[in-house]
Amino acid sequence: MILDGRDPSAVLRAAQVLQAGELLGLPTETVYGLAADAGNDAAVAKIFQAKGRPADHPLIVHVADANGLIHFAATVPTFAQKLVDAFWPGPLTLILPRRVGIAAAAAGGQDSIGVRCPSHPVAQAVLRAATALGVLGVAAPSANQFGRVSPTMAAHVQGEFGDGLLILDGGPCEVGIESTIVDCTRGAPVLLRPGRVTREQIETVTGLTLRDKDELAAQTAQVTPRASGTLESHYAPRAKVRLMDSVALQSALNVLESGSRIAVYARSIPKRSVGVLHRSMPQDAHEAAHELFAALRELDATGVQQIWVEAPPDASEWEGVADRLRRAAA
Ligand code: TXA
Ligand code: MG
Repeated sequence: MILDGRDPSAVLRAAQVLQAGELLGLPTETVYGLAADAGNDAAVAKIFQAKGRPADHPLIVHVADANGLIHFAATVPTFAQKLVDAFWPGPLTLILPRRVGIAAAAAGGQDSIGVRCPSHPVAQAVLRAATALGVLGVAAPSANQFGRVSPTMAAHVQGEFGDGLLILDGGPCEVGIESTIVDCTRGAPVLLRPGRVTREQIETVTGLTLRDKDELAAQTAQVTPRASGTLESHYAPRAKVRLMDSVALQSALNVLESGSRIAVYARSIPKRSVGVLHRSMPQDAHEAAHELFAALRELDATGVQQIWVEAPPDASEWEGVADRLRRAAA
């Protein structure tokens, strides 16, 4: 059932659903989440079951404000605190050492915990109402079946989980791709997932060099936690996605056999594309991210066999979009 998230009685009902250990479809500024009380391991287990997600893949805990952090994190390094001060509430998740005995199921057995404070007014209202009922944090992965495209509208969530789930409608998500994730447990910041908050912004605020997860894995040969947001093949529509630069895209179109069921999603306008479904990708990185998952869902729903996507520019503000597209194509 979808309720208007601006309605205070719907917000209260949502908080009560969380308190009762049930699941909720929660709008955030990034994507919609499938939410449960992070302090209730049985409730969190329902998330893994509903998504078909392996129970050792850690979830992100959402808190109402920066004070909520201390319930879940054992320590907050200085550089992590700088990130909190600069970007919360907003689309940034921090991985921190987990308080012993807290939110073990949400953490998927890791001794760390991912925490984020979302800025979406409906998420804020639900988190505050839930806190008042004793729910101090809300575990919420993206509200899609494991491996599928994340939902950016209430109707997408209903399509994934049916009408039995209470979903608050918060409109289309402004950011459109999942939060930037920074691992703060290794002495210096490590980028686990790119998003709206860019590499440059993180380095400017912390005054530190942001390392990449691959670089670090090679250096330390440490076992990185299982993390579906970092799996190679993820965010996949049913149609096969191919990523090409504009030249390769045009060449592929030139030799395309008639009757091929192909959609093109590109910033440039290809010349010969008779009979090919064409959708323009926005020139602006934020706009492109905002519509990315809805666009992939819409193109997929037309029944095409392949979606040919023009690779985004090699620029920091495009890194999140490029990452999601690369994994949709993997
Ligand atoms: O924007 C978002 O972050 C959305 C909205 C709903 O807030 N949530 C989201 O959750 O994208 P999810 O479950 O789809 O992605 C969570 C990812 C995991 O796949 C993993 O990569 C990382 O966060 N993660 C969470 N806790 C972690 C931990 N303790 N250690 C390492 N990675 C962790
Ligand atoms: Mg996800």
